[in-house]
Amino acid sequence: MSKYKVTLETHSVADTQCFGELLGHWVKQNGNPLCMALVGDLGTGKTHMSQGIAKGFGVTEKITSPTFSLMNTYMTLAGEIYHFDLYRMDDVSELENIGFYEFTENQISIVEWADKFSDELPKETLWIRIVPIDEHSRAITLESDLIDYETLVEIGGIYVVGN
Ligand SMILES: Nc1ncnc2c1ncn2[C@@H]1O[C@H](COP(=O)(O)OP(=O)(O)OP(=O)(O)O)[C@@H](O)[C@H]1O
Ligand SMILES: [Mg+2]
Repeated sequence: MSKYKVTLETHSVADTQCFGELLGHWVKQNGNPLCMALVGDLGTGKTHMSQGIAKGFGVTEKITSPTFSLMNTYMTLAGEIYHFDLYRMDDVSELENIGFYEFTENQISIVEWADKFSDELPKETLWIRIVPIDEHSRAITLESDLIDYETLVEIGGIYVVGN
């Protein structure tokens, strides 16, 4: 259980990407290293949210999921952002080989399927869980031990519900 938790809802792909942009923009302004761990079943919206986060952080190209490459790196004026997808990773020892610990602890990173290796993520990780409500809507929870409640509400903007 994380110390701080806020729930959001999005009702379209565009909403999910817009929320991602708000988060990416906040991360850029904040300037500190952060690992954003995305959790959700197949096809819930992790990659669409990643696209929004990258855009808000300043990535100008459209990002795709690094399912086969395991990690993609994007350069921006605000520094690099590292995008992981652990779906096809089976062995924890592979994480060391791709520099996972270095990047998630000291840089800005997004990790899809982070729950596969949740013990390997930094304690300060921002956990983002996506659960389908219906075909177009998603419940999204933000959980952190470091980013406090008020800040999570600020990041969530108009997508925050019932807190
Ligand atoms: N509110 C929503 N937010 C995000 N995606 C949505 C939403 N409503 C519907 N969708 C649909 O859900 C799918 C999400 O696909 P996406 O590739 O982002 O999922 P994913 O979680 O990365 O899946 P995978 O684990 O297979 O990589 C898309 O087909 C998208 O159109
Ligand atoms: Mg994906």
